[in-house]
Amino acid sequence: MKCIDEIPAADLKGKRVLLRSDFNVPIGRDGAVADTYRIQQGWQTIKYLSEKGARVIVISHIGRDPEETLEPVAQAIKAFGPVVFIADIVGHAARGAVQAMRDGDVLLLENLRRDPRESGNDEGFAKELASLAEIYVDDAFAAVHRAHASIAGVPKFLPSYAGFLLRDEVREADAARAPLSPSFAMLGGAKFETKAPLIKLLLEKYDRVFITGALANDVFRARGLPTGRSLISKELPGPDVLQHPHFLAPVDVTVELPDKSARVKKPEEVAAEEKIVDIGPETVKLLAPHIAAAKFVLWNGPTGIYEDGYISYTKAIAELAGQSGAKIVIGGGDTIAAIEAAGVDLRKKAFLSTGGGAMLEYLLKGTLPGIEALG
Ligand code: 3PG
Repeated sequence: MKCIDEIPAADLKGKRVLLRSDFNVPIGRDGAVADTYRIQQGWQTIKYLSEKGARVIVISHIGRDPEETLEPVAQAIKAFGPVVFIADIVGHAARGAVQAMRDGDVLLLENLRRDPRESGNDEGFAKELASLAEIYVDDAFAAVHRAHASIAGVPKFLPSYAGFLLRDEVREADAARAPLSPSFAMLGGAKFETKAPLIKLLLEKYDRVFITGALANDVFRARGLPTGRSLISKELPGPDVLQHPHFLAPVDVTVELPDKSARVKKPEEVAAEEKIVDIGPETVKLLAPHIAAAKFVLWNGPTGIYEDGYISYTKAIAELAGQSGAKIVIGGGDTIAAIEAAGVDLRKKAFLSTGGGAMLEYLLKGTLPGIEALG
């Protein structure tokens, strides 16, 4: 995978560069971008290419509804530098705008998923996209697990490079696949059946693997403990996970009662009408020495349902991570949003990945379609 800093400056000046970013960002009720982290992280590549005199044509998807538009993203990019939004992808308007570009200009085209050929990885669509430019740059780490036309198709037709964000994300994810010991991994979320292969791999690679979020409910259920109204996956962990010497699970939980009040309990005390919504203070005490001693911490998934205000234990873990001397890699939009909502700033201390699903898949497989496509 070659990076854009390997392209001689003279070869960028005046060239049309098709830049695949992942600006799939949340849009608030006011119609504006609610979280600009991906844009902020993606800006360095746009800026570099533009400053070298390239004509930068940015493409991205947003959301799963093809009607969604990238227009608010263009507004958000303007906080970083000038950009022109064109509500078209490969039609006359887009081609005309590309023809009219001057050196250093930045264009943002419309949501790629408006064209069903994008998700279908249609070769004709990839060719049409490629014909807009002379060089392709992939900086969309959060989408490289999708074998879509703009990711896996376009590199067949253009000289192709990784942008700085993709390069850095892959470097950090590689470090997380070979962590320095002692190492500590913390994985939350739901759907045990989709996370099982990764959990097993982490148990091999990490000295301690702590399972949290709704996945911990599956652990309690598998141990024959009561889980009340808590979210439970279709599949439960087996002895290979539960009895693994590296495996850790919460030793206390926060439960929510039907009247929405909350209390801390031992997992064996959860009543039928209660719902597990977070870990408890004893679990934080259990984890503290592991996090303090770790040289590498991987964290994906808040400890509790932070959207409902169960944030204090995620905050406590974030503070422990902030105090440790470990190298820290944190992934998943939810985890980063929860840490931010908790008011802990780990941006200087940790690598905050823009990838959720992509990061988990990369950790498991060590490569992804978009990375393979770059050669
Ligand atoms: C993400 O936010 O995880 C990426 O942009 C991929 O989006 P998708 O899951 O809709 O393909």
